[in-house]
Amino acid sequence: MDERMSVLSNLIRTSVGRKLVMAATGLMLFGFVVVHMLGNLQTFMGREALNGYAALLQKNAAVLWSFRLGLALVLAVHVTTGIVLAWENRAARPERYEGPNTAYGSSLPARTMVMSGVMVGAFVVYHVLHFTVKVPGLNFTGVDFAGLRHGLAGQPDVYGMVLCGFRSWPVSAAYVVAMGFLALHASHGLAAAAQSLGLKQRSWSPGLDHATRVVALVLLLGYISIPLAVLGGMGDSRGVAAAQSAGGEEAAP
Ligand code: HEM
Repeated sequence: MDERMSVLSNLIRTSVGRKLVMAATGLMLFGFVVVHMLGNLQTFMGREALNGYAALLQKNAAVLWSFRLGLALVLAVHVTTGIVLAWENRAARPERYEGPNTAYGSSLPARTMVMSGVMVGAFVVYHVLHFTVKVPGLNFTGVDFAGLRHGLAGQPDVYGMVLCGFRSWPVSAAYVVAMGFLALHASHGLAAAAQSLGLKQRSWSPGLDHATRVVALVLLLGYISIPLAVLGGMGDSRGVAAAQSAGGEEAAP
């Protein structure tokens, strides 16, 4: 462990190392975002499917908390290294302004990496308070999500929470906008990671850039499909109404 930490701290001291750390942590976060999207898409399979999946994830507290701490650590390293890199790029700009060899290129999405990163970061803070901590005042529905239960064992009704949460159109709209920033960030982050890892050889570089844009679009469509489907009337409206009026009683199956 100590040896690994010193490898990491040595790596972070060089500019190339910082880009590698950025690429590695970015790819880990991307992996989480893909798996999370696939998990969330089970909303379309109904209450049993989504709640069953959520219960599985929550089953072992030690595993859950190790995962959460690991994710928080990866995010913290990604954000701090990103701040240092952005600062370095800015400082170097008078000498090497624009040109294809700058850290992330010079297109509009490339230049908005810091801004899109900040927006995604702000979204994650809101999202965790909204759906994980379940702060009642932040969901704008008047329902206490912590009280939504399902089944005889009274397990958390994650499905009811998602349906109820996205019935609020300002909340859904904020999610859709945030997913736009996520797609922007991921599209360029993936291209930059490929470059840092030496994968962008001239011959397949355009193909790789194209592929990152397609992947970002799939992420965007996959995520926004949920709030948009809920706003469009998806799901068990009787269940949502029951959950809303009961504010804690078991929702209809
Ligand atoms: C429509 C989009 C999304 C939906 C419906 C959604 C749904 C959820 C739900 C229901 C939870 C709570 C799970 C539970 O308490 O059992 C959750 C947690 C979380 N989500 Fe999302 N999510 C979405 C987008 C995202 C995105 C884009 C990110 C990252 C950029 C993200 C990151 C997280 C994190 C970090 C947690 C906390 C995980 C934990 O409890 O340890 N989510 N999400």
